Amino acid sequence: MGLHYILWIVLLYYLSLAELERCHGQTMMPEFQKKTVHIKDPARVEEIICGLIKGGAVKLQVITDFDMTLSRFSHNGKRCPTCHNVIDNCKYVSDECRKKLYELKEKYYAIEIDPDLTIKEKYPYMIEWYTKSHALLIEQRIQKDRLEEVIRDSDIMLKEGYETFFDKLNEHTIPVFIFSAGLGDVLEETIRQSGVYYPNVKVVSNFMDFDENGVIKGFKGELIHVYNKHDGALRRTEYFSHLKENSNVILLGDSLGDLSMADGVPNMENILKIGYLNDKVEELLEKYMDSYDIVLVKDETLDVANSILQKIL
Ligand code: TMP
Ligand code: MG
Repeated sequence: MGLHYILWIVLLYYLSLAELERCHGQTMMPEFQKKTVHIKDPARVEEIICGLIKGGAVKLQVITDFDMTLSRFSHNGKRCPTCHNVIDNCKYVSDECRKKLYELKEKYYAIEIDPDLTIKEKYPYMIEWYTKSHALLIEQRIQKDRLEEVIRDSDIMLKEGYETFFDKLNEHTIPVFIFSAGLGDVLEETIRQSGVYYPNVKVVSNFMDFDENGVIKGFKGELIHVYNKHDGALRRTEYFSHLKENSNVILLGDSLGDLSMADGVPNMENILKIGYLNDKVEELLEKYMDSYDIVLVKDETLDVANSILQKIL
């Protein structure tokens, strides 16, 4: 056997060891040791992360929910608003209407997170909630040019580590699809004011339709609610068909409805599903661990996602 041949074998052996080193032991990273992190099958998670690392930047895309996923559920013990709540709480909504919106939230949010109801059972109630809530917003004649101030004055907050998350994804031009059943106008202005609305970010959500005086007259397109993201995802074939090479997905969500956000991806190779569990933790943890690869309980940071991106990019 020639010396060259032996040297090649040795080199290949060390290269494969290095590859193994780079790929395995991901769940041993310090970010995974936090008590907020719950993983049902660590070996599988390692395997998926390995696939993501091997694919690198060129194969990656991120698909994420907004409310309570990119935005915080609570801060200093106080609940943070969803996109809708930003409007509900603002000074341009009458007290009477605010009361009605709060009553709707009381009733329908309980249904949204009810551990004993199936998605199918919840579905019609979500349509009811959105229809009633959006009708009230239209009644209030919300004005487009007041939104910037309303959002600036609100308590909506992105999760800790959002700068690193968006900066890194932008730096590597990784497509980011924010798919939200919130209010698109509020969402876009929030990420704009946070300085992270980069060109690699695409927002699909419920956008207000304004008349020639800039007063809300309705909503554009099909309604997106918490449990119809599957249909919405399939309607975005044009977006996803441009990203045929991006067959590796990191999905971030907080609702079981968010699991269908990647249904429009045509040729998925690897998908890592990261789910935030903020409410009814005891009742829902098992279900979340069965559905999401990584469950983050009452975690107000993007640390886990950032640590994975650090390995891939
Ligand atoms: P998401 O898809 O970005 O998480 O946004 C949907 C959230 O918005 C969902 O948790 C329900 C919530 N929501 C309100 O807070 N108030 C409302 O009036 C409506 C219709 C939805
Ligand atoms: Mg959400």
